[in-house]
This record gives sequence, C-alpha cells and structure tokens, in this order.
Amino acid sequence: MSGEQAALCFREMVPEDAEAVEQVEKACFSIPWSRESFWKEAANEQTFYLLALQDGRVIGYAGTWLVAGEAQVTNVAVHPEHRGKGVATKLMERLICEVKQRGATAMTLEVRPSNKPALALYEKFGLKSVGRRKGYYQDNGEDAIIMWNTKL
Ligand SMILES: CC(C)(COP(=O)(O)OP(=O)(O)OC[C@H]1O[C@@H](n2cnc3c(N)ncnc32)[C@H](O)[C@@H]1OP(=O)(O)O)[C@@H](O)C(=O)NCCC(=O)NCCS
Repeated sequence: MSGEQAALCFREMVPEDAEAVEQVEKACFSIPWSRESFWKEAANEQTFYLLALQDGRVIGYAGTWLVAGEAQVTNVAVHPEHRGKGVATKLMERLICEVKQRGATAMTLEVRPSNKPALALYEKFGLKSVGRRKGYYQDNGEDAIIMWNTKL
C-alpha cells in the first residue's frame, strides 16, 4: 500500500470545514460555491456531505440533498493534484452506502456533456442519462445531462 492510500480517510462535513472545502471548490469549478453555502449545507439536516482527507487536509468531497427517498447529488470534486487515484470512486461508494442507510432508493444528478471523467465516474455507479436540460450552465450555456439510478 502506498503512503497516499494509507493516509486517506473519510468523514462527514461539519460547518467548520467550510473554508477548507471552499479551497477545493475554487480549484475545481469555474463558478464555485461560496464558503457560506458550504456552511449552510453542513448545517442542513436534509443534506449529507462526505469529505476525503489526506493527512488531515480536505482533498475532495461529495454532497447530496436527501428529498423524499431520492439522493440528489449536488457535487463531487477532487483537488486537481489528487485526481486519477480513485478518490472520487471511494467517495461515491461511501456516499451511496450512507444515503441508502438514510432511506434513499434512487440517486440523480446533472453533469456537463463535456465532462468525460465525471460521466465515466457516474456510469460506474449505475447512473444513466435520461434527458437534458437545455442551456443549464450559466458560464457557457452548455446543456446538462440528467442522470438517474433508480435501483440504488
Ligand atoms: C470528476 C472527478 C471528481 C473525478 O475524480 P477522481 O478522483 O480523479 O476520480 P477517480 O480516480 O475515482 O476515477 C473515477 C473514474 O473516472 C473516470 N476518469 C477519471 N479520470 C479520467 C480522465 N482524465 N478521463 C476520462 N475518465 C476519467 C474513470 O472512469 C475512472 O474510473 P476507472 O479508474 O475505474 O476507470 C474529478 O475529475 C474532478 O474533481 N473534476 C472537477 C469537478 C467536477 O467536474 N465534478 C463533477 C461535477 S458533475
């Protein structure tokens, strides 16, 4: 086992993590969510956000809203320096396990058609494309692919 794998651990986000999560968010997205958004998400009882930490530092996260038996994935992100090592795969495995325990029987999310790594990640977990939202993304007017897994 490499040092990186040995030092990787996972836990639920709490409001005090908002600043560290914002740093990952800024490194990953053209329109990042604010620190305040993560604080509110962590304090909301209808959400579940899982962090990946290496040597105590946040390197990735995955979040969901839990609504009427559905887990709506808000985001999955891994800092660019830590990609391609299975971190997002481990986040998704643990996220799905947790939301199932909380009663979710389906998972849904939106993703850009141009985001091949994310599409491949979600397909590994049984999410399938079921339609599009036209011009969904405000920065470049790109459509969103809507994905569902109704058999969690
Ligand atoms: C999408 C993202 C979370 C993947 O994180 P990661 O830790 O690198 O992912 P993993 O190493 O677990 O790889 C998961 C799968 O993604 C796919 N993948 C990863 N990197 C890829 C690449 N560069 N090109 C194509 N597919 C890729 C593979 O299918 C891989 O599975 P495999 O290794 O079994 O083949 C990461 O690229 C990221 O943070 N991107 C920016 C934020 C983002 O776009 N999030 C999704 C918003 S909907």
